[in-house]
Amino acid sequence: MTEDIKKGLAGVVVDYTAVSKVNPETNSLLYRGYPVHELAATQPFEAVAYLLWHGELPTPGELAEFRAEERSSRALADNVRAAIDLLPTSAHPMDEVRTAVSVIGANDLAGSGSVMDATGTADENLARSTRLFAQLPAIVAYGQRRRRGEEIVAPRDDLDYAANFLWMTFGEEQDPVVVDAFNRSMILYAEHSFNASTFTGRVVASTLSDLYSAVTAAIGALKGPLHGGANEAVLHVFDEIGEAENAAAWLDDAIAAKRKIMGFGHRVYKRGDSRVPTMKAALDTLVAHVDRPEVAALYDALESEFVARKGIYPNLDYPSGPAYNLMGFDTVTFTPLFVAARVTGWTAHILEQQASNALIRPLAAYDGPDERHVKEYVPDEAHAEAAERPEEAS
Ligand code: COA
Repeated sequence: MTEDIKKGLAGVVVDYTAVSKVNPETNSLLYRGYPVHELAATQPFEAVAYLLWHGELPTPGELAEFRAEERSSRALADNVRAAIDLLPTSAHPMDEVRTAVSVIGANDLAGSGSVMDATGTADENLARSTRLFAQLPAIVAYGQRRRRGEEIVAPRDDLDYAANFLWMTFGEEQDPVVVDAFNRSMILYAEHSFNASTFTGRVVASTLSDLYSAVTAAIGALKGPLHGGANEAVLHVFDEIGEAENAAAWLDDAIAAKRKIMGFGHRVYKRGDSRVPTMKAALDTLVAHVDRPEVAALYDALESEFVARKGIYPNLDYPSGPAYNLMGFDTVTFTPLFVAARVTGWTAHILEQQASNALIRPLAAYDGPDERHVKEYVPDEAHAEAAERPEEAS
């Protein structure tokens, strides 16, 4: 075949975006122009969500107004909780999250009639985005408690996003060190340009389907271990290795078996993921807080061995996996945490796509059997005429 195929769309620029800029040359990631590590060090996650949607950080008054809206939307509708309860407790929480978002969407769009009416205006879609942002913590927290056989914990409107998320998950207020590390992780996971799940969301939005359908599809894309699922996979790797002194031998075997080492490598960053230093610092703080130096030792050992052998650096999932573990989250909950964060970036992109839409519909180079015919078929005139029309679309 002579077509110039960009497998995996690698290197293909498909559109403009003003939401974020990934610069692999300088290892920098900017949200609406701001370096992400500056935002992580100074902002509550709510302010970053606002920034992604509106293009500017909120003034104190705007933040207060946005927080009031978010806090008043946190509780789950009864049928969302009931839908989660219908799923087996052995279901992966990504399936719970995907299902819950579907139900929230069906509730919200009930009575909208035609698919044309579900698309929504920019204001409606901003309100929908805020609702999803506000309710995803309750979905994730309830999922973990349900699996553990614990009662649901109602949201508290005197706590900010990060503190309330941890409160609903663990049923007790967490130390500020933990809340801060969690807040930072949410900011770092919030947005990353045209990654696979965001692009999925934009593809769905480009058909003028509704925002909930686009987010549900994005959740499906994020579930894969080559994307969001990697933070969960990192913990399995840590469990397999056990302790730092086993890292070198484990890696020899893994490389010999041609295994992909989860939490390393990136499609865009080839010299290190710009978010890792911030998350690694948060992990170090947690390690000191809970006095688990062996976690940092294993982290360092595997990283230095793998970088020395392959020159492939950690991505954000590498420090975030063990950090979420130290915070007390179940391993299967890590990717849903990523959803709760990334819903901000997804919806910012969906809004951007809707504001300047073109249906996303690439072409494929056909590589199947030559044309052949069903022997019973008798050609009719309409098809013969259509076949002769010039420049028929593929
Ligand atoms: N472990 C082992 N080898 C890796 C690797 C990893 N984590 N990441 C890349 N490589 C190797 C590939 O095997 C390939 O080697 P080859 O040239 O000998 O075949 C080479 O590095 C190039 O990798 P490639 O898969 O082409 O890069 P990509 O840009 O398509 O893939 C990822 C990027 C993220 C899919 C890939 O690095 C990966 O699978 N990482 C593990 C999963 C993960 O952490 N995902 C989260 C991403 S944020």
